[in-house]
Order: sequence, then C-alpha cells, then structure tokens
Amino acid sequence: MLLSDPLGMWTSRHFDEWVLSGQSLLGHITIVSDPAAIRSFMIDRAVNYVKDDLQLRVLKPTLGEGLFTADGAAWKTQRRALAALFTPRSVGGFAPGMAAAATALVDRWVTRGPRRVVQVDREMTRLTLDGLDRSIFSGALTRDRAAVHEAQAYFAAMGAIDPLDLFGAPAWVPRIRRLRTRPVTRFFEALVERIVADRHALLADKPGAAPRDLLTLLFEARDAETGEGLSRAIVRDNVLTFLGAGTETTSSALTWALYLLSQDHMARERIEAEVDAVVGARDVVADDLPHLVWTRAVIDETLRLYPTAPLIQRMAVSADRLRNVAIPARSTVVYAPWVLHRHRKLWERPEVFDPTRFLPGAPAIDRFAYLPFGAGPRICIGASFALQQAVVSLATIVGRLRVDLLAGTAVMPEHRITLRPKGGLPMLATAR
Ligand code: HEM
Repeated sequence: MLLSDPLGMWTSRHFDEWVLSGQSLLGHITIVSDPAAIRSFMIDRAVNYVKDDLQLRVLKPTLGEGLFTADGAAWKTQRRALAALFTPRSVGGFAPGMAAAATALVDRWVTRGPRRVVQVDREMTRLTLDGLDRSIFSGALTRDRAAVHEAQAYFAAMGAIDPLDLFGAPAWVPRIRRLRTRPVTRFFEALVERIVADRHALLADKPGAAPRDLLTLLFEARDAETGEGLSRAIVRDNVLTFLGAGTETTSSALTWALYLLSQDHMARERIEAEVDAVVGARDVVADDLPHLVWTRAVIDETLRLYPTAPLIQRMAVSADRLRNVAIPARSTVVYAPWVLHRHRKLWERPEVFDPTRFLPGAPAIDRFAYLPFGAGPRICIGASFALQQAVVSLATIVGRLRVDLLAGTAVMPEHRITLRPKGGLPMLATAR
C-alpha cells in the first residue's frame, strides 16, 4: 500500500467508486470514499479500527510512544494533558509569535533584494518551525534553530518508507535509509535530550518560572486512574512528535497555497485586496482572523486539492461490513483525502481551484467528504493551530510579496510522509 510514492496507484475508478477492496502485496485492503461509511469506521466503530502495524513499524523508531503512535491509557493521558494547549483561547494567544515568525521570513526575503528566487518548500518549513518554537516550545529551540531546520529538511527529503519496514523485517536488520539518516537522528536526539533535561531541572528548581507550554504540560500530566506521571522518555518522544507533526504539515499547506495562487491571478488579486484592507502595513493580529475570510478559504481549498496527509490508514480488529462490503479481521481500511477531495460524485469540477466553495454562505459540504485533519478520537490535535498559522503566514507573505512560478518549472506532487512538490519548489518573490 504505502509504496515510495503512493499517488501513482490511484486509477480513474478510485475517483468514481464508493468502496473498492481487494488483495495487494500487503494483504487485503479496502478503500472507502463514501462519507457515511468513513463516518462508520472513523467514528461510530472507531474502537474496531486501530492504527495499523505497518504505520507503527515505520513511525515508532522515530516517534516512540508519543501522542501520534501511543495507544490505550498512555495515549489518553497525553491527549487529555495536551488539550489545554490547543483550546481556542490558547491558540489565539499564539498569534503574535506566528506573526513574528512570518514577518521575520518576509524581512529576510526582502532585504536580499526586491526580486529573489526562494526555495518555497524549504522556506515554509523554516517558517512553521520558527512559529512552533515561538508558541508551544516557548523558544526552547532558538539556540539550535538553523541546525534544526537543516535536519528537518533532510528528514523531509528522506521521508519515503523503507521497503524493509513495509514487509515487516525484524528490527535488527539494518535499514539503509535509517543508516543514511543516522547523523541527523543523533543530532535530533541530543537536542531533544537537552531541551527535556533543561525543563526538568527548571521545574524542580523554580516551577513558577517555567512557561505553561508543551513541556510543562507533559511533565505535569498524570494518569487518571493510577496518578502516575509520564516518563522522561515519553516527554522526549512528544517533543519529536510535535516537531515532526507540527512542521512539515503546515509547511506543505503553505507551499501549495503559494503555488495555487501563482496559477490563479484573480484569486491572488482578491487575497491581496483583502489583506491590504484588513491588515495594511502592520503585523497580522488575532482580531484580524475573522475578517480574513478569503485567505482562510484559500487555505481550505488548498487542503482539499493538496491534502497534507493524503492517506489515512487503519486496521480492522474484527471482521465488519462497510456499505455491504465484507471487511476481514486484521485487514487494512483506508480513506484517502487525495481521492475523497477529488471524488467525482462528491465535488463539482473537482480538479478546479475554487476557494468560493469554502466562503460563508456557500452550499454545505458533507463533513465526511472533506477531512484534511482526520476524524474521530485521533483527529489532529493541532488543526486549529495549523489553520491559524497558515492564515497568519499567508496573509503576511501576500501582504508584502508576490510569489511566481519560475518559467519552465514542472510541479509534481509527491506523497512522502506529507504531500510535497517533487524536487522542491523554487519561486520568484517580488516586493509589492
Ligand atoms: C495543515 C496542517 C496539518 C494537517 C493537514 C494535519 C493532519 C493530521 C491528520 C490527518 C491526523 C490524523 C492521523 C490519523 O488519524 O491517522 C493528525 C494527527 C496529529 N497531528 Fe496534525 N496536521 C497538521 C498540523 C499539525 C500541527 C501544527 C500539529 C502540532 C502543533 C499537529 C499534531 C498532530 C498530532 C500530535 C497528531 C496525533 C493526534 C493523536 O493521535 O491523538 N498537526 N494530523
């Protein structure tokens, strides 16, 4: 299923059928695009559909037992503890840090001349990492930000799945990909170890001086039944989890938004006009967000056409039926935003970039036809954080610059861990 670039496996039938199932190299797979059936397995019967072995085999060596990969009581304790960080109020409080990160990026681009070529995909990763650092990490990464950025870009480039993991080879068999990324992995581990140790010491010495951020909430978390805290290893796993899950994702959305705007000059003029009217020459503030409706619609439509997570995968614990199709026990069940969001029975002109679909007052969209952030208990904890960071960053960029595709650049989406432009996306940024 998860081959080096799974986008290649979708055929015309996938965009027309509600459910397709069959045998693959990796066992029995059912691909579901019927919104009601997606609701059934992601929400109503979510206990029967767990994160599958393959996904865990691939992610656990890096993310350990952090929120993305943990299960059962351990997952519940972490999720409950971190919920406080992602309430609307808390996320709203992160707007100044997000705006400062975006302004720093635009300043850096502009000071190097009125027109310059920028590697948009890499720059967006740097921006989202900076925003994360200025919010849920309270600046803990600052000292090593440039180095972290390099490592992050390297990880993104290496993001394909190792064939040995795909077929379940034992953990002791050396993975070429993992060997190649070992220096980066070591760098990350040392960095994270230091951040966790520093906070542990601060909480022991002067608990009142510690910011109420990701690290503090993790150290304070207690299991509801046993009252036990999280181990230092789990705190560390979550730092890696949030660095991974919170950076490449929003970066992918921003990269594709800038690409789509460069291809649609009417949509671009409209976003520029909105930002000029709402924000003007100052930084974006939280109060601007409800007024940036076209900017938000551009982000929503970008996540429809270029969903950051193009495929969501589960394993059926016991046999089931979905839309009258038999689901064998221990088989794989998938819904693919890449397919669902372009499905011919769900969308009019599915291939066309049209942000008006998401404007207030537009015809209602079935909640289970549009799922960029997943659904059910494992829905993205960072969804509102990501949407806010995307809107703040896009408004800051388009307020000051126009970003165009370089003549002759071929843009091809590629499904690595997230959806990236194959070979990167160089663009020309011109001061407005
Ligand atoms: C456009 C940006 C983003 C997209 C499209 C996205 C998408 C997703 C999806 C689809 C899932 C569910 C995966 C599944 O059910 O198998 C998920 C989970 C998760 N996301 Fe995001 N994400 C984004 C940004 C973020 C950000 C900014 C953060 C953190 C600040 C974050 C942290 C997480 C975590 C920790 C989980 C695991 C939650 C759990 O299992 O309880 N994500 N994300």
